[in-house]
Amino acid sequence: MGFHTFDPDRADQLEDPSRYEYVSVDELLALFDPGPEDVVADLGSGTGFYTDDVAAAAGTVYALDVQSEMHEIYREKGMPENVVPVTATVEAMPVDEPLDAVFSTMTFHEFATPEAMAAVADALKADGRVGFADWTRNGAGTDGPPVEERYAAADAVELCEEVGIEVHRAEDRRETFVLEGSL
Ligand SMILES: C[S@@+](CC[C@H](N)C(=O)[O-])C[C@H]1O[C@@H](n2cnc3c(N)ncnc32)[C@H](O)[C@@H]1O
Repeated sequence: MGFHTFDPDRADQLEDPSRYEYVSVDELLALFDPGPEDVVADLGSGTGFYTDDVAAAAGTVYALDVQSEMHEIYREKGMPENVVPVTATVEAMPVDEPLDAVFSTMTFHEFATPEAMAAVADALKADGRVGFADWTRNGAGTDGPPVEERYAAADAVELCEEVGIEVHRAEDRRETFVLEGSL
């Protein structure tokens, strides 16, 4: 099973607006282009820092996180009405309806086992979209998790393609990678 827990006492760090220096709202939304009717899932939603931004553009957002403490912190912050918290791992995510898209920010390296990627593919509609942004193994490691714990864009492409997700764009930047694809 692949997951790392995040220390709830450090949850404030996830709400720091300087995080947009690495992944902006505009580029995140461009990865999977959510529309107002779309049902999407945020894989490893944490305190909902980016979930809020996607909720403003999507119909329903399932905020999936293995740590119920993160959902508690998100509720205290104020959860948008169209966000539905789900406490589960990506591998075991309960899906009541096929998803138009899934996305994840800075968490791919924590969940992306082959089993979890198979669950992602199973959860999507036939033409469902994915958008991933995370720290890259090819980064300098001056911020974020140690480089040896990260994936590079090429690793993420391989993990997607193994479960039938076609990758339309994947690139390493200085410290992060982004990937957009669809079934
Ligand atoms: C580094 S935090 C990032 C949170 C959020 N995506 C953001 O960018 O603010 C990673 C979160 O993913 C959750 N997580 C890690 N592995 C997971 C898994 N396999 N399934 C579900 N949640 C997971 C952790 O509990 C934590 O809240």
